Amino acid sequence: MPSSRKATTRTWGWTDRAWPLAAGGLLLAATLAMRGGTPAAEEPAVAADKVAAFMRAKLDHSRLVLEGLAVADFDLIDRGAHDLALASQASSWQVLQTADYARHSDEFRRSCNGLRAAAKARNLDGAALAWMEVTMKCIQCHKYVRDTERGP
Ligand code: HEC
Repeated sequence: MPSSRKATTRTWGWTDRAWPLAAGGLLLAATLAMRGGTPAAEEPAVAADKVAAFMRAKLDHSRLVLEGLAVADFDLIDRGAHDLALASQASSWQVLQTADYARHSDEFRRSCNGLRAAAKARNLDGAALAWMEVTMKCIQCHKYVRDTERGP
């Protein structure tokens, strides 16, 4: 009977809808978390307003990913993930010159590449999971930056 195939492919039906929403919630949390404290850093390497605009562009890339997940548009997911990974290599991204910040950046980029791989494989569940991982990296790096800028 061909019915067994249908059963395996639809097992995750509800998560198709729930995960993009959960990921959206995480993204919102990441954004709100970042707003918490804007401590005055001593001597920023790049002009603060330029960095802010650059950092906010991450939200635009993220929106592409979320929209792609919501409507199962894998090209959109891939484009957003690609833009995010690319942004993480730009000079404006290098706000802190620490090994830990570099490690957070690496991990973020790796998660973006995992997301791209899932999008290329047209694996929606995998992409949703990878997106949650990416948003966790947003939050973790912001947490690190806040803790570091606050100083001892
Ligand atoms: C490797 C570290 C790192 C990662 C990962 C990261 N960010 Fe950031 N983000 C920063 C830094 C540094 C700032 C600037 C903080 C400051 O102004 O002191 C920032 C600022 C922001 C801001 C605030 C911009 C403003 O208005 O000042 C937003 C929004 C933002 N990031 C979104 C995101 C999103 C969405 C993600 C994940 C898709 C993400 N970030 C991942 C380091 C990171």
